[in-house]
Amino acid sequence: MSQSNIFILLILIPLTFTQSVRRKDCVCDLKNSDPAFPEKKLKNVETTALQCIGTITSEKMTDLDRLVLGLQHRIKQLEGNVIVLEKEDDRNLYGAVSLRIIELEIAEIQDLLDKLNRTTQNYQHLSVQTAAQLEDMKDAMVDLEKFDNMQVIKTNRENQRFKRNLEQCKEELSATAAPPTVPPARCGLGRAVSVAGPRTYSLTVYGTSYTFGAWGRDAKPAPGDKNKYWLVVLSSGNVYGHFVRQYSTLSTLLLGIGPTDTYISSSNPTTNTIQGPNMVMYGNALYYNCYNTYSVCRFNMTTRSVSTVALPNDAGYNSKFPFAHLGATYTYTDMDFATDELGVYVIYATTSNFGNVIISKVETSNPPVFNQTWSTSLHKKTVTNTFMVCGVLYATRYLDKETEEIFYSYDTKTKEERFDLKINIKKMQTNIQFLNYDPRDHLLYVYSDAYILTYELIFQ
Ligand SMILES: *[C@@H]1O[C@H](CO)[C@@H](O)[C@H](O)[C@H]1NC(C)=O
Ligand SMILES: *[C@@H]1O[C@H](CO)[C@@H](O)[C@H](O)[C@H]1NC(C)=O
Ligand SMILES: *[C@@H]1O[C@H](CO)[C@@H](O)[C@H](O)[C@H]1NC(C)=O
Repeated sequence: MSQSNIFILLILIPLTFTQSVRRKDCVCDLKNSDPAFPEKKLKNVETTALQCIGTITSEKMTDLDRLVLGLQHRIKQLEGNVIVLEKEDDRNLYGAVSLRIIELEIAEIQDLLDKLNRTTQNYQHLSVQTAAQLEDMKDAMVDLEKFDNMQVIKTNRENQRFKRNLEQCKEELSATAAPPTVPPARCGLGRAVSVAGPRTYSLTVYGTSYTFGAWGRDAKPAPGDKNKYWLVVLSSGNVYGHFVRQYSTLSTLLLGIGPTDTYISSSNPTTNTIQGPNMVMYGNALYYNCYNTYSVCRFNMTTRSVSTVALPNDAGYNSKFPFAHLGATYTYTDMDFATDELGVYVIYATTSNFGNVIISKVETSNPPVFNQTWSTSLHKKTVTNTFMVCGVLYATRYLDKETEEIFYSYDTKTKEERFDLKINIKKMQTNIQFLNYDPRDHLLYVYSDAYILTYELIFQ
């Protein structure tokens, strides 16, 4: 007899049996000693959690950062002005004029302080409220856990803990396997070890439609221009820009107050128009890729005159050797200008160097010239941007939407090249169109999908 036959028999027997006896109603009495699961309570906790997330957004926190930073700069500037006044104090008219300027400055600082006071009060209120909500939620969750008879949550939690430990172990393992080593210290700085921030994060006054641009400070400012910031956005399909906007301080830039615009040419585009986003300001002059050529342009902000110097004629321009990653090409980024403690550089690629990066020091003489040039084996199209610190070139690549990685360095002094750096930059937007180092404050200035940010480069 096969197994399936036995099975059928077993089922058939009880059926015939019940038919033969009198039917009896079967009452099943399920006694649950536990109280019913409070589903409503769980729903409440979920709703509260969502509300909490809504009230504390990173946007709001950066508001506060921005105000504090603006204030810091204004106070520094005020200090500077007071020192000037003290020197001038020979009881003449100049003293009186400066005093008036300082009065105005103090009034502005007072405004900022009031705004900060209002903002912090709001946050205090918010955080007290949120803390209370969190406390309530915690209590509710402890209550709810009592219903976890099957120990599902507890086990889950332990699993998560194990997973975390495992991840940590893995990270520690990989960290010891590949230590991020960086070229030696110079310019009195230790080696660059990490990037902190963003320290400031803001949309420009132009709004979200201008995704290509550049900003920063003059790396070698005239004495009166130390606090000035500049901003250039590219119009016309992210190809070119034709004027430089300047603000007297960081707070006025972030708040969009009182800009001064300097136009390079009345009709655009011309050969002197700015092409691509990776320009820099140095010695009150803007260095950039001249429109539609393989030349470097220098725009004198004082005289509004342009001097040019040509790169080798096989140097990339018009998106021949742009910055890129697998998902995107950053158009018209063939030339990247950089400032560091030693001056100005242009970073580009040539056909004769197989599309690999070349660094040329731009001597800021009149006219500008290239004196020293270094060829690297870094393919330009695998890089998303570069910057220089103390004669060392650093290059970044795209890891994912949240992270850019400084992975490469080239030391112009020793010609040593490294591809094993692992310094991450935490992004707020997906793409970085401009990145430059300011030797005065050790900050990286970034233009990222219409947002302007600063990051702090940390040295050991
Ligand atoms: C902030 O505002 C509150 C109420 O408006 C006021 O009492 C307090 O003195 C202010 N603090 C500062 C530092 O201005
Ligand atoms: C800009 O022009 C002024 C006036 O001729 C000159 O003194 C200054 O050196 C120039 N700046 C640069 C960077 O060439
Ligand atoms: C060119 O570079 C050398 C260092 O290699 C330096 O001594 C010289 O002054 C530079 N020339 C110019 C014009 O800057």
